[in-house]
Amino acid sequence: MEHGRLKIAVLVSGSGSNLQAILDAAEGRELPARVVVVASDNPAAYGLVRAKERAIPTYVVDYSKGPGEEPDPLPFDLEALLKEQRLFSGLAQGELQRRIIRLALLEEELLKSLEPHGPDIVVLAGFMRLLTPHFLNAYPMRVINIHPALLPSFPGTDGYGDTFRYGCSFGGITVHFVDPGEDTGPIIAQLTYPIYPDDTLEQVKGRGLGLEHKLFPAVLRWYAQGHVKIEETARGRPRVKITAPDYSDFVRSAVVSSLR
Ligand code: GAR
Repeated sequence: MEHGRLKIAVLVSGSGSNLQAILDAAEGRELPARVVVVASDNPAAYGLVRAKERAIPTYVVDYSKGPGEEPDPLPFDLEALLKEQRLFSGLAQGELQRRIIRLALLEEELLKSLEPHGPDIVVLAGFMRLLTPHFLNAYPMRVINIHPALLPSFPGTDGYGDTFRYGCSFGGITVHFVDPGEDTGPIIAQLTYPIYPDDTLEQVKGRGLGLEHKLFPAVLRWYAQGHVKIEETARGRPRVKITAPDYSDFVRSAVVSSLR
């Protein structure tokens, strides 16, 4: 923390409308935080433009190009990493190992770009890549993701599409800590919105995204204010409790805003 303000690193892959919501909230002082660095796996991500407009340092680790030559030794303990990760279930051992090494080497570059800026937390705002424990262990319980569905339903890369096509009459969004699985980490906060019978997928996405732009800055504010409490449970899975006095009012007004 810097003068009571949270230092945030943001990872984006695309448009960066959530990044924009966070930047606006931080500028308007309703969020006691500063975005200190923005990084992307995609050189064409519009989120990078949004960051540059605010003179925030940006970095690209181009995942489509891959990590280049494999260093020897690897900058991580491969055996420990393979044991700890929970991605790509069902893959043959050789292919799994190849994919984890590739991801972790790319993550090494991401970590190097974030490190000099000393972020307190890393926020995934539409970052469409999986993270291994090599990255996560550098920021334990300090990587926060927003997912466009009511987890544990519809993990993956198309939360709105999956919710809509399944025929749900309510959809949701989830902000959660990232753990070594895919969209399986402890839930911090969720909101739901109705899906009406005549809705198109575009309308559903619009409604959900409108809520994302409210929820993500709110969660970061509660986190900065010390209102996000992590409780260890007997079953070993941490449970998150929000102790913010405005929590119920926030949820009520956000959910009502999504109704017709
Ligand atoms: C958002 O809907 C976010 O929830 C989703 O990508 C979109 C990014 O929009 N993230 C995921 O699906 C992560 N699995 P944005 O770039 O305009 O913020």
